[in-house]
Amino acid sequence: MSQILLTGTATLDIVNTVERYPQEDDEVRASASRVASGGNAANTAAVLASLGHQSHLCAVLADDASAAHIRATLQHAEVDLRYCPQRSGATPTSYITLGAANGSRTIIHHRDLPELETEDVSRIPLEQYDWLHFEGRNVFATANQIRLARRRLRDQPISVEIEKPRPGIQRLFAYADVLLFSRSYALASGFSAADALLTALRPQIPQAILVCAWGEDGAWALAPGDRRRFDCVHAPAYKAGPIVDTLGAGDTFNAGIIDALCGGAMLEEALAHANRLAGSKVAREGLL
Ligand code: FRU
Repeated sequence: MSQILLTGTATLDIVNTVERYPQEDDEVRASASRVASGGNAANTAAVLASLGHQSHLCAVLADDASAAHIRATLQHAEVDLRYCPQRSGATPTSYITLGAANGSRTIIHHRDLPELETEDVSRIPLEQYDWLHFEGRNVFATANQIRLARRRLRDQPISVEIEKPRPGIQRLFAYADVLLFSRSYALASGFSAADALLTALRPQIPQAILVCAWGEDGAWALAPGDRRRFDCVHAPAYKAGPIVDTLGAGDTFNAGIIDALCGGAMLEEALAHANRLAGSKVAREGLL
C-alpha cells in the first residue's frame, strides 16, 4: 500500500434529500438529512484510506465546532490530519440538496476561511510520499505548492484535479503527471465529449496522462505520447443499481485512478477500477 498526500479542501456538508426538487421561493420537506465531512481532497483521501493506503490530508481546518466534526469523521475514516493547519475562521460549508429521483446534488457553498499557504506545504516531508495529489483551486498558490513539490520529489507522480474552469487554471497543467478533468470542466470549456477535450489539450500538455470521466457514458484517458481521438482509452460506466446519491462520485473516481496507478495498473484497468468504485458509490447514500 502507498503513502499518499492530498492537498485541497475539507468542508462540512449538510445534505438534505428531497423527493421533489423545489422551485425558487418554494418550501419542501426533506425526507432525510445528514451532516458529513466533504470537500474534494478530503473525500478522495477518505476513499484512499478505505482502500488501505496511508492517506494524509493537508487542508486548512477552522477552529470551530464544525471543524471538530470534520476532524472526528476523517480520523474515524483513518485519514491522517497531522499536516492540516488550523486557522481562525468559519468552516467552509456546503448546503446540498439531493434529489431522490435521480441522485442529483445541487450545492450552495460558503467559504470564509484563509487558504492553504505554500509554507503549510513546505513544512511537510514531501519526499516520504509515493504519490501527491492536488485539488486544482486557488490557482496561484496551488501552482507554487506544486512547483515546490516538484523540486523536492525524485520521481513520485503528481496528480492534479481540474474540476472547475477557474481563471488561470491552465497554469497547473505543466506540473502534473496525471490530470483528472471533470465533465463540467469539459462542457464549460466548449467540449461535448471527453475524448475531444483530451486530444485538444494534448499539444499543450505533452507529459501527462489525461483522464476525463463522463458519468453514465464511462471514462476516457489518453497516455503521454498519444494524441489522436482513436488513441483514447475508454471504459464503460459501472452500474451497481439505481442512482441514489452522486455527491462525491468524482472524488471517488479520482481515488480509484490514483489507487490503480499506484499499484502499477494499465490505463484501461485504472479506468475500469475507478468506474467500479464511482458506480458503487452512486448506488448508495454517503461516501463510504
Ligand atoms: C463533492 C464535494 C462536497 C463539497 C463540495 C465542494 O465533490 O467535495 O463534499 O461540499 O464538493 O465543492
